[in-house]
Amino acid sequence: MLPDDLTNALNKQVNFEFYAAHSYTAIAAYFANLGFKGFRNFFLVQAAEERFHAMKIYDFLNDVGERVIIETMEQPKNLFQSPLEAIEHSLAQEKDVTKAIYKIADLATEHKEHATMALMNWFVEEQVEEESMFRDMIAKVKRIDVDSSAFVMLDAELSKRSFDPDEEH
Ligand SMILES: [Fe+2]
Ligand SMILES: [Fe+2]
Repeated sequence: MLPDDLTNALNKQVNFEFYAAHSYTAIAAYFANLGFKGFRNFFLVQAAEERFHAMKIYDFLNDVGERVIIETMEQPKNLFQSPLEAIEHSLAQEKDVTKAIYKIADLATEHKEHATMALMNWFVEEQVEEESMFRDMIAKVKRIDVDSSAFVMLDAELSKRSFDPDEEH
């Protein structure tokens, strides 16, 4: 069992991670519609990662004897002005996730809840990677024109990404 406020915060985070998956699925659809299959793949893999994150906290709550409540989801953003805007939206979303993770880590520390602290440490490290990945992509996309062959090459590179839960630390 966990303190109620910590259980609630973790439950909210399960839902937030599922929402992130939802949002990346929408971004994948945006890229699919533009004909960029590599970006589509990249964002669908990202969505799979977010579901993995959600389930990691879900499993934890079950393991400590707490109940998960799945909530209604807001509609994610589906339309973007440009690929750059979609990727900037992704980075902004990851920054919000990082803030939420830090809050839970603070709460777990206040309660001296070491198991949750350990779980949040995993997420703190993961968020460094997530933010850095999107920052790198923004830098690349800013340098190249969407109509250039360089953009097609970037798209081809992103088609190679795959999801392997064993590679997740
Ligand atoms: Fe996540
Ligand atoms: Fe993420």
